Amino acid sequence: MARLQNDVFLRALRREPTPYTPIWLMRQAGRYLPEYNATRARAGSFLALCKSPAAATEVTLQPLARYRLDAAILFSDILTVPDAMGLGLRFAEGEGPRFERTTADEASIARLAAPDPNVELAYVMDAVREIRRALAGRVPLIGFAGSPFTLACYMVEGGGSADFRTVKRLLYARPDLAHRLLAVNARAVADYLNAQVAAGAQAVMLFDTWGGTLAHDAYLEFSLAYVRRVLASLAPAPDGTRVPSIVFTKGGGPWLEAIAASGCDAVGLDWTASLAAARRRVGDRVALQGNLDPLVLLAAPDVVHREAERVLADYGSGPGHVFNLGHGIVPQTPPEHVAALVETVRAASPRYHRDPGA
Ligand code: CP3
Repeated sequence: MARLQNDVFLRALRREPTPYTPIWLMRQAGRYLPEYNATRARAGSFLALCKSPAAATEVTLQPLARYRLDAAILFSDILTVPDAMGLGLRFAEGEGPRFERTTADEASIARLAAPDPNVELAYVMDAVREIRRALAGRVPLIGFAGSPFTLACYMVEGGGSADFRTVKRLLYARPDLAHRLLAVNARAVADYLNAQVAAGAQAVMLFDTWGGTLAHDAYLEFSLAYVRRVLASLAPAPDGTRVPSIVFTKGGGPWLEAIAASGCDAVGLDWTASLAAARRRVGDRVALQGNLDPLVLLAAPDVVHREAERVLADYGSGPGHVFNLGHGIVPQTPPEHVAALVETVRAASPRYHRDPGA
């Protein structure tokens, strides 16, 4: 396997000194890029893109051809796991994800089993291997999965939801069933991430997009407990080294200390958090990733520049910051504004890293 030429992202996750603040962006491959839309049209659909290792490799590399990003992220989706459990995933144009079958009652939850990632999700492992070959060591590859709770939201609701009332009703009315479902998801997610690492993923990220919608204690019991379980099950890389992990909980600010103590290496923050305050709260226990409001990218490049500087200053000096957005890039983003962001972070961040050995 090719030697890694740029390990700034991995070093920042380990809170080691770096010459500048590394940057990658959630949804960096996506509909804001015309070349992505062209590849997706050729593949036929978003899911066909995910299921074709060659097409997934192509779109994973597209943002790296345009911008000096410090990491690539596997092109896939968190919902491939429940799809592999037999729920039948569809993406209706302009409607978001839908499952043909939901998992909301005792019988359907009893039937659930964790898939074998090297069988039912073999196309993802093939994509990871093909992306690693195509990257040829330029930057590290991030693998990912949804958190057990966020997957449960889609599995129980059958798709997105404004208030997640069906899954929340299940948590309150039948906590025994909710725990059974979450335990299967935790097993599935751990197996899936370990298979991605065995195939070549060099860091892993858990997306807990909906954990932040839970009541304070419910979050700890139904979301974070299963994130901890996944993290505790992560195996080392094929070369025996520890694979750094990132936990992103949208709206997770209230539980920051608990997330930082979950066993992850880095915590992803959305734009409602102050990086300076978060840093005071977690000390040197974890690295922090984030947290520019993705909608800043709709404004002119000078505004993007100013707001990126603000995020860098908010974190301040020293290692342990991975620059990112607070959530995914929206499709309406002009690609030139992303260029302005990446260049600003590369040019402005070295002054926050003065370690001469870095
Ligand atoms: O970040 C990346 O570039 C890697 C690829 C990636 C996608 N989805 C591609 C995608 C990742 C890491 C995800 C994670 C994901 N998927 C999450 C967690 C992160 C988050 O956004 O909160 C969630 C909740 C999903 C489920 C999902 N996938 C939804 C709700 C939707 C529809 C909304 C939307 O943005 O269209 C998707 C579709 C999706 N996933 C697209 C992409 C590029 C757009 C599909 C298209 O091309 O039509």
